Amino acid sequence: MKIPGSVSAGFAPALVHWQRRDGRHGLPWQGTRDPYRVWLSEIMLQQTQVSTVLGYYQRFLDRFPDVHALASASEDEVMSLWSGLGYYSRARNLHRCARTVVSEHGGLFPSMSSVLATLPGIGDSTAAAIAAFCHGERVSIADGNVRRVLSRLLAFEGDLSQARAQRELWQLAQSLLPEHPSADDMVAYTQGLMDLGAGVCTLRQPACERCPVAGLCEARRAGATDRYPVKTRRVARRHESWWLLILRKRVGEQSVVWLERRPPRGIWAGLHCVPVAGDEAQALSAAGDHAGAARHLPAQAHALTHRELRLHPVLVDLVADAADPAIPDGRWVPTDQLGDVGLPAPVRSLLLQLPD
Ligand code: ADE
Repeated sequence: MKIPGSVSAGFAPALVHWQRRDGRHGLPWQGTRDPYRVWLSEIMLQQTQVSTVLGYYQRFLDRFPDVHALASASEDEVMSLWSGLGYYSRARNLHRCARTVVSEHGGLFPSMSSVLATLPGIGDSTAAAIAAFCHGERVSIADGNVRRVLSRLLAFEGDLSQARAQRELWQLAQSLLPEHPSADDMVAYTQGLMDLGAGVCTLRQPACERCPVAGLCEARRAGATDRYPVKTRRVARRHESWWLLILRKRVGEQSVVWLERRPPRGIWAGLHCVPVAGDEAQALSAAGDHAGAARHLPAQAHALTHRELRLHPVLVDLVADAADPAIPDGRWVPTDQLGDVGLPAPVRSLLLQLPD
């Protein structure tokens, strides 16, 4: 596909100018060229809103101010600080990446995007963001938001559920970059793409009247912004019911709940969690003799990328000298220490609001 001359000449200057005047400034990861801080923010911001990330980002930096501190932490501690941000494979890869940077790169993040992209958890777009923000590398990001912006700008007909079309669009993104950018230009351009995607060229009802490149946009000219991006394959979410067995007892003044560790793969991998069963009978049989005293708490929905979970919590209060459940790899955790363990967000909020 050939990009019209007016678009290739006009897009980057208009975007850079707009970002400097109207884009986002003053976010905590802006105004630094420290690859550790930029990398951490980019990983946290994947599929997660800025407002959610802010608190996590600061807590993470307070506890792990540099890549060495993160590399020498335990996985448990990393997971516990990540708890509630979701997509937990990001946290495990973050930890692995920090260890790789320390063990194989002398504690310094590589500067080139092509080398960054070889590290755990750093995809092509994240690698480009880090290299552009920290070193002014002339390389384009291409996350989901940016693909939407560019597919509208160019009325790109390729099917973005296919890797081939994604690669083709990335090539086009490369040819839209500013021609001889300074490092500051690359920072403004890259942030401009993000700002446009997040705040103007939104999935539904894009705010074209505020868009600095509306005059260049092919989709807008055709009155067809809603046709782009073209994706034939939609993610189908499977529906599942999960029964959460909350075993609780009193030990002295304290209340404790039984937690086990989730398997290393799959949903909530590696986090701590109450026992999960696929149906009610299985949950109650795991509760053993005490199943009669089970209390059903309100069910709640929890959406994951590929699954729609319906969570059914069942609370069973055990007598203080009850034998431990016959579940390997579990332990009693005092309810006032739940903040120190990595728990899935819905399980954490459930456990913090248990009835007496
Ligand atoms: N989303 C991904 N990266 C971002 C950034 N650097 N600033 C704001 N939102 C983002």
